[in-house]
Amino acid sequence: EIHSSAKEGSKAIAQEIAALIRERQAANQKCVLGLATGSTPKYLYAELVRLHKEEGLSFKNVISFNLDEYYPIEPDALQSYNRFMKEHLFNHVDIPEGNCHVPDGTIPKEQIKKYCEEYDRAIEAAGGIDIQILGIGNNGHIGFNEPGSNINSHTRLITLDNSTRLANAYEFPNMSQVPRLAITMGIGSIMKAKRVLLMAWGSHKAKIVCRSVEGHSTDQVPASLLQQHPNCKFIIDEQAAAEL
Ligand code: GLP
Repeated sequence: EIHSSAKEGSKAIAQEIAALIRERQAANQKCVLGLATGSTPKYLYAELVRLHKEEGLSFKNVISFNLDEYYPIEPDALQSYNRFMKEHLFNHVDIPEGNCHVPDGTIPKEQIKKYCEEYDRAIEAAGGIDIQILGIGNNGHIGFNEPGSNINSHTRLITLDNSTRLANAYEFPNMSQVPRLAITMGIGSIMKAKRVLLMAWGSHKAKIVCRSVEGHSTDQVPASLLQQHPNCKFIIDEQAAAEL
């Protein structure tokens, strides 16, 4: 789905999310959202906050699971995805705090495996993800699933590619401070979502969007594995669509 701008595309996704939240509210049911960070979803969260403040959209029945977090990192660090979510969404809407799940970058290493298994179990216990929001990295990563990630992978600790550390270095004082590890939901965890919406804005995403949509479905381009998802849509702007 190609939109004239990132803002227009984000508004369309916000409408889709709002419609599902309201539908579930009317039926007295929960709505489970899989959420992403990075610069890509900022307009979406701004629009959801606007819908809450100006149009009374309530998030009381929303349960959220975020894709990923650097490791190790303190939740209040400037670059923490826990902090990002509070600043861009959670602090501005009425979602109950206990409903918000973002991987914890402070878990002791020996407990991570168990922690990740519990994260996946919590998603299942909530009824599975209704809508999974994704951005896309320059190398095709989704969440922090770098090239080579298995299509059946679960939530786990992953080593970041150097290219990803370089791309995200602008968030940190210098490259050496970019964490080498991250906790990420797996591709398998993402593939279980009932609906997947991947967003990409700007000409720097054009090449990887083209490889993901028109290339072979391969674990070397993690986003291309979404070709195998039964209900996935890429929402992109004209610049990101330039090579299609
Ligand atoms: C980050 C995140 C991804 C995100 C991607 C793109 O590393 N882990 O979830 O989709 O890179 O980032 P941006 O949206 O800033 O282009």
